[in-house]
Amino acid sequence: MNNDIKKILIDEDSLQAKVKELGAKIAEDYKGKDLLLICVLKGAVVFVSDLMKRIDLPLEIDFMAVSSYGCDTKSSGVVRILKDLDKGIEGKHILIVEDIIDSGLTLSYLIENLKARGPESVEICTILDKPDRRTANINIKYTGFQVPDEFVVGYGLDYAEKYRNLPYVAVLKEEVYSE
Ligand code: PRP
Ligand code: MN
Ligand code: MG
Repeated sequence: MNNDIKKILIDEDSLQAKVKELGAKIAEDYKGKDLLLICVLKGAVVFVSDLMKRIDLPLEIDFMAVSSYGCDTKSSGVVRILKDLDKGIEGKHILIVEDIIDSGLTLSYLIENLKARGPESVEICTILDKPDRRTANINIKYTGFQVPDEFVVGYGLDYAEKYRNLPYVAVLKEEVYSE
């Protein structure tokens, strides 16, 4: 185990089992529909690459980079589009794929922005949900796990851009981010 990790919250097998379950549900719900997965960089990159393999449909993927400022452990609420979609989304069924929803500010911005482009529908799929710190009211269609209000890393989630490659979701030792 990585030396900076205090404890593992969700192990690799549990994550993979949940991804499989979510993928099957999504495949059922979007059968016959023009599905576009939108991966929110960078955090969702690990989840989307696992999830897309579990959705047995002729889907497409695209990427958006929407980030709040800085390397802080808290979301600032200021949203920037660092990279936009490659194509228009008129008539498509959009599923936004996220690693974690915390305050909800990133997503509430993104949802409004995408809805204005004329898609058929816009829904959310997140592997982690941290409901304790929600300030924006958003409707999440697919959730993997709820996590407590602790600073979690791994499976795409970073602290100062590190730990995204851990195959599990874990809590960091306090001394790692209090320095
Ligand atoms: C993190 C996370 C979500 C967002 C959740 O992204 O990946 O996208 O914050 O926070 P919120 O619900 O409070 O808006 P971050 O801005 O750290 O960028 P990253 O994905 O590149 O790490
Ligand atoms: Mn993110
Ligand atoms: Mg981050």
